[in-house]
Amino acid sequence: MAQLINGKEIAARLRGEIAAETAVLKEKGITPGLAVILVGDDPASQTYVRNKQKACQEVGFYSEQINLPATTTQEELLAVVKELNERKDIHGILCQLPLPKGLDDGAVIAAIDPKKDVDAFHAENVGHIMIGDQHFLPCTPAGVMELIHRSGITVEGRHCVVIGRSNIVGKPMAMLLLQKNGTVTICHSRTKDLAAICRQADILVAAVGRAKFVTADMVKEGATVIDVGINRDENGKLCGDVDFAAVEPIVGAITPVPGGVGPMTIAMLMKNTLTAAKTYGC
Ligand code: GUN
Repeated sequence: MAQLINGKEIAARLRGEIAAETAVLKEKGITPGLAVILVGDDPASQTYVRNKQKACQEVGFYSEQINLPATTTQEELLAVVKELNERKDIHGILCQLPLPKGLDDGAVIAAIDPKKDVDAFHAENVGHIMIGDQHFLPCTPAGVMELIHRSGITVEGRHCVVIGRSNIVGKPMAMLLLQKNGTVTICHSRTKDLAAICRQADILVAAVGRAKFVTADMVKEGATVIDVGINRDENGKLCGDVDFAAVEPIVGAITPVPGGVGPMTIAMLMKNTLTAAKTYGC
């Protein structure tokens, strides 16, 4: 039976560590502050933002949610970002993506002060990740690295296959694995013979966004499988990018969905906000 990598438990431990550090920082007069901008009324985004606010409360941060209607103009949204950039009590700014039609994700990311960019989406921070001297870790990939590390799994010298090349997950994931001396292959929708490449993976990270995409014939015996996906199956039940029931008996370690990578993303956001407050807070 595969080792079940319990993200819920590891994230709770991580939040406990962040809460302890926050208490020390507060004694020095600095309370980490996170501002979350939510534009429109997408239910999934509302849930994500609610969970981020809950995590802030748990670790002792100040948090502020800015709800804007879907009719908000680009200029209005950029003005909100500008104001938050100038606030001394706000150390991290996050604008929940995707934005409603007509608003430009890229322009908003570019407008956030890189020192407050706790998503690590700004080109300046992406550049730091590429070089390997990052302040802010990309939340989901960093959460995956933490899961791997805290489960006693070695990256160095292993073949790591990442399925997906998004700016949020696939690309920075590959960089973090490379930083730990993994041999990294990035696969995507145009990759030929995907199953054969995935079968070579010692560590397989699935970030495709398609329910149960990774099947039993795509994994090597004893491999570590990390499932970044959050999808609904044919019965409307939450599931990942990996066909868990088919893959679990073959592999050495696997993350469940829910309770795997998801809680880690938010824990890493808390960590980045704490880093921002420690580094730039006053
Ligand atoms: N939408 C889905 N994931 C994310 C994330 O990590 N950050 C932001 N800002 N929006 C998202």
